[in-house]
Amino acid sequence: MDALQPVQKAAEFSVGGLLSFMIHRDTGYAPGSVSKQALASPSSRSFRTRHHCAIEKTVTQWWHSYTVPARSYMPDAIKKILWNRKHKDAPAGAQFCPDDFLELLLSKLKPSSSVLDLGCGSGNLLAALRNRGWQGHYTGVDISDSVIERTKKVGWPNADWVVSSLDDFPALKADFACFVESLYYARHPEMALQRARECAPVVLVRIVHSGQHADVVELLDKATRHGCVYVLE
Ligand SMILES: C[S@@+](CC[C@H](N)C(=O)[O-])C[C@H]1O[C@@H](n2cnc3c(N)ncnc32)[C@H](O)[C@@H]1O
Repeated sequence: MDALQPVQKAAEFSVGGLLSFMIHRDTGYAPGSVSKQALASPSSRSFRTRHHCAIEKTVTQWWHSYTVPARSYMPDAIKKILWNRKHKDAPAGAQFCPDDFLELLLSKLKPSSSVLDLGCGSGNLLAALRNRGWQGHYTGVDISDSVIERTKKVGWPNADWVVSSLDDFPALKADFACFVESLYYARHPEMALQRARECAPVVLVRIVHSGQHADVVELLDKATRHGCVYVLE
């Protein structure tokens, strides 16, 4: 773990990371959490904040174009270490769930529906769903054992948590399977989608920075023909 520390620190403090941090600090948004809707409704925000939203998008796109492909190809053991570190001080809560995805899912959910959240992180989607009154069964899957342990301790009722890779998760049955900003971290996104389709009749995917993920977008186009619904920021 120590051997990776200098590499990760260098990446975190690169120009892109620093700029991104400064912008996020000002806007209060987590990277990738600004929905199309939020960017398109500037009336409630100052010019400065709107301007920062545009810069944020550009910087984050650029940043993700390097870090996301690199992460998806890493062995799972390394991914786990890096994500554990990344989650350590990351803020969590319903406000970090993208509005567009939440509305899409809520428009389909019934009180009795079950949700499988693949790459769930700290359960932001669950927090947002509970805030909106949905009490159905939820299962969160993530490669980071530390984030799963921490989130378990919150004690959400009617929720299960599984530590697993997106490339090898168990066949968990649900009505809806979701990938919220996580599909592109799978080494084999197509296989992860297929597996999700075996778990649930409806698969919902949200990806950001579509321009940087042409391969995933192409894959989603194919998946749409098989009942997968997706949101692009
Ligand atoms: C950008 S975060 C999104 C988290 C959450 N879905 C949200 O929207 O708040 C990506 C998540 O995917 C998880 N992840 C990354 N690679 C993974 C993999 N190969 N298998 C399972 N989870 C993975 C990370 O631990 C992280 O929680």
